[in-house]
Amino acid sequence: MAVTDVLGRGFRVEGSLARNPVLEGLDARDRAFARAIAAATLRRLGQVNAVIDPLVQRPPPGRVQAYLQTATAQMVFMDVAPHAAVGDTVALVKADGKSEPFTGLVNAVLRKIAESGKADAARIPPIQNIPGWLRSEWTRLYGKAAVRRMALLLATAPPLDLSVKSDPEKWAAHLGGILIGGSTVRLDAIGNIKALDGFDDGAWWAQDVAAALPARLLEQACGGVRGKRVADYCAAPGGKTMQLCAMGAEVTSIDLSEARTERLTQNLARTRMEATVLTADLTEHQPETPYDAILLDAPCSATGTFRRHPDVLYNRKERDITPLTRLQDKLLKQAANGIAPGGVLLYSVCSLQEREGAARVHKLLKARPDFRRIPLSLPEGLDVPDARLEGGMVRILPPDGSDGRGMDGFFIAALERVAKI
Ligand SMILES: C[S@@+](CC[C@H](N)C(=O)[O-])C[C@H]1O[C@@H](n2cnc3c(N)ncnc32)[C@H](O)[C@@H]1O
Repeated sequence: MAVTDVLGRGFRVEGSLARNPVLEGLDARDRAFARAIAAATLRRLGQVNAVIDPLVQRPPPGRVQAYLQTATAQMVFMDVAPHAAVGDTVALVKADGKSEPFTGLVNAVLRKIAESGKADAARIPPIQNIPGWLRSEWTRLYGKAAVRRMALLLATAPPLDLSVKSDPEKWAAHLGGILIGGSTVRLDAIGNIKALDGFDDGAWWAQDVAAALPARLLEQACGGVRGKRVADYCAAPGGKTMQLCAMGAEVTSIDLSEARTERLTQNLARTRMEATVLTADLTEHQPETPYDAILLDAPCSATGTFRRHPDVLYNRKERDITPLTRLQDKLLKQAANGIAPGGVLLYSVCSLQEREGAARVHKLLKARPDFRRIPLSLPEGLDVPDARLEGGMVRILPPDGSDGRGMDGFFIAALERVAKI
């Protein structure tokens, strides 16, 4: 079950759903419903647990707990008729060998939740849906009001953002979307993006408006990338590579994962663009000729992507951050060595943790006096407060953006390797 895979085993919800043999046997409508239940449970888990916990004396095994959680999410947050949610869940528990002895408990608890669950949940603020360690770290960094807004965004499915190869105005009008930040087409979320016009022709690719900023800001920091030798470090599945190709750069895309570079190659084929694609460990790789620019979109906790991937809230732990910062330092050090004098290094992470953002850049700058920050400015129309431009570095929070539907949390900084110090 996807919810136990995420909560008990740290899996990604999409992967777990994709591998689920029961789901494979369902028709598209039922599959979509199963996905919606998993999403509602993960987006509202703090409130869901707060409704269930007072009704059980001792926490039941994880699988039984997941039956309670998914049925509660259906009744309280998805407006599923209580008799249907209770009846179907009790039948599932009864038929599920190890859970079967808990049928009576599940039945009794769910019947109570059917009566008063909605009112009980309404008394619990949505901020409880963010796990405690992240809630306190984000409150310390960004303030309680911002975290409350993040919790509201977590509760709703995000829009679909597309980066287009060219002519964003035309595509926004054609697909019935809006243009956001000057070049991203924003649509309401849909089930099957492959059915949208332009997919087969490779006219666009899905990419959150914030995830499109690192390549755009690299272009800004370089004063244009057309004809320049630009490396995309940690490139797969290739959203930023495709942007850089569309901007006219001569792109080399490198990633450690063979499976992911394969996806990058497929994405380039679909969008009919070309880059040199390499599989390599970038903590060791050194180019023969230094690049004019490197975009390093480093592996990170991805906590900024919780609107699109609510599972990150549960399969990321506080103890994961320090090892990630060590990897980010190694990648930054190696990338700094791969830049030609006068060239630009752009560092980005889709994390909201300060230790993965500005702290990494400050550490690199201390070790490398031949690098200095290039102040960045954001494209018009994104509605990101000036205070988010920390000394020319960019901090995007999920509630930023002009249409109330938010954007992924990102940190972005550009550094120039000075020719002479
Ligand atoms: C945030 S994702 C990159 C997303 C990508 N830039 C995009 O826009 O589509 C981080 C990537 O870092 C890669 N990675 C992790 N450790 C690496 C290493 N030591 N060397 C190279 N790539 C690495 C992962 O395989 C993953 O694809």
